[in-house]
Amino acid sequence: PRAHIELDRKAVVAPVRRRTFGSFVEHLGRCVYTGIYEPGHPSANEDGFRMDVVDLVRELGSTTVRYPGGNFVSGFRWEDSVGPREQRPVRRDLAWRSLESNQVGLDEFARWLKLTDSELMLAVNVATRGILPALDLLEYANHPSGTTLSDLRIANGTPEPHDVRMWCLGNEMDGPWQTGFMTADDYGKIAARTAAAMRMADKDLELVVCGSSGSGMPTFGDWERTVLEHTYEHVDYVSCHAYYQELDGDLGSFLASATDMDFFIDTVVATADHVGGKKRSKKRIDVSFDEWNVWYLKEHQEQEARETDLEWRHAPRKLEDVYTVADAVVVGNLLMTLLKRSDRVTSASLAQLVNVIAPIMTEPGGPAWRQTTFHPFSITSRLASGEVIRPVIEAPVYETARYGEASLVDAVATVDEDRAAVFLVNRDQRETAHVTIDVRGLGSSRVVEALTLADPDVYAKNTLAEQDRVTPAANASATLADGTVTVELPPVSWTAIALR
Ligand code: AHR
Repeated sequence: PRAHIELDRKAVVAPVRRRTFGSFVEHLGRCVYTGIYEPGHPSANEDGFRMDVVDLVRELGSTTVRYPGGNFVSGFRWEDSVGPREQRPVRRDLAWRSLESNQVGLDEFARWLKLTDSELMLAVNVATRGILPALDLLEYANHPSGTTLSDLRIANGTPEPHDVRMWCLGNEMDGPWQTGFMTADDYGKIAARTAAAMRMADKDLELVVCGSSGSGMPTFGDWERTVLEHTYEHVDYVSCHAYYQELDGDLGSFLASATDMDFFIDTVVATADHVGGKKRSKKRIDVSFDEWNVWYLKEHQEQEARETDLEWRHAPRKLEDVYTVADAVVVGNLLMTLLKRSDRVTSASLAQLVNVIAPIMTEPGGPAWRQTTFHPFSITSRLASGEVIRPVIEAPVYETARYGEASLVDAVATVDEDRAAVFLVNRDQRETAHVTIDVRGLGSSRVVEALTLADPDVYAKNTLAEQDRVTPAANASATLADGTVTVELPPVSWTAIALR
């Protein structure tokens, strides 16, 4: 196909939000244990954190990290995870049918965040606990000193408060798989009371109320409306969660997953604005897209249904999806959509960070490596700065079974004072896309870097045996002359072009 894109620095969507590049660490499988934490590993620091993983997290460029779940949160007693390690209880985690040793908790995790230069986004257990434990956790985490719980934190070795700004009021409360699953009405009421109480302690908190676990949920839309009718004046964000995978060999639909994410955002924003309008509120609720990724969920569910080994284990291998080139193209495209919607999506978390549906994999006692999906995330986080620019894209469309018509080429751009970046995908499965980009409106004069992720085998993967089978390569076709960038995008590919 041939495509033409117009970019103009006046067509600003919103600033690039650093929180768009958030990720997620859940006490699930090997995300924490033998993922970020493995005492005895050759690269472990004095806290037991793997520094090879820290280096990769820094290279990934993730910003905020959501913690400690996920479904795990609904069975979590935060008090178990602080204080002398040898006294911490071992509990059953019903969400993931595993044992939780609590050897990593809030204070250790906060130290790990410092190593990775990231911000903490903390979830409270609204489902099976209540208002008081949430207030206790807030006091332990954020109160400077002079109260029982803040002094306990200090006695536990953390003199300075963690000063957590972003708080999630539970997780996926619309999901019947959730311990403590509630109706929208019940959840809205308890979330409003919890939020109001937390704000009595600190009015500057940024609170995230649970939206739907996916746009396919039977209560989607009504859930957001009901929950926001209860919570509108008490919270700042409503969450969205979306996972995509190729189903029934339909690669065309899978490659168009970003169009579904766009629909999801549109619907949630419209619902939030509808509630705000009815309340005649001056306040605006933004979206925290705090779980998004490719996840082979169907295979996971089928395997769960077949599972006969019901042994309770510590850090079992779970959800260790190995990603392909096509998966990386979709992940890159989803991130482009989040950027395009930066006017209302002001926080997002790639789910998850290490081993569990993750861009980074580790082997116990062995290496850590980058999955295919690592690359578009890391490059976008590095290059996107300044403001997001809405592109005008002229490209042929193709028909998808799941989402109707989709453009064969998708793009978004960012522009800063002295630099710009364009991110592109070619969804065509057979043909190279020949793309021209009018950049006169950006004032750019040269290409400083052009990287493409593609492979003749769209199902190629990085594995323990072949850790760098798939890496981005310089795209030599990218040139800039007379205010126009010309670039060729191979079939099923993701590309970033940095301009000066
Ligand atoms: O990210 C994996 C799981 O997906 C999370 O625990 C849950 O919130 C979602 O269903």
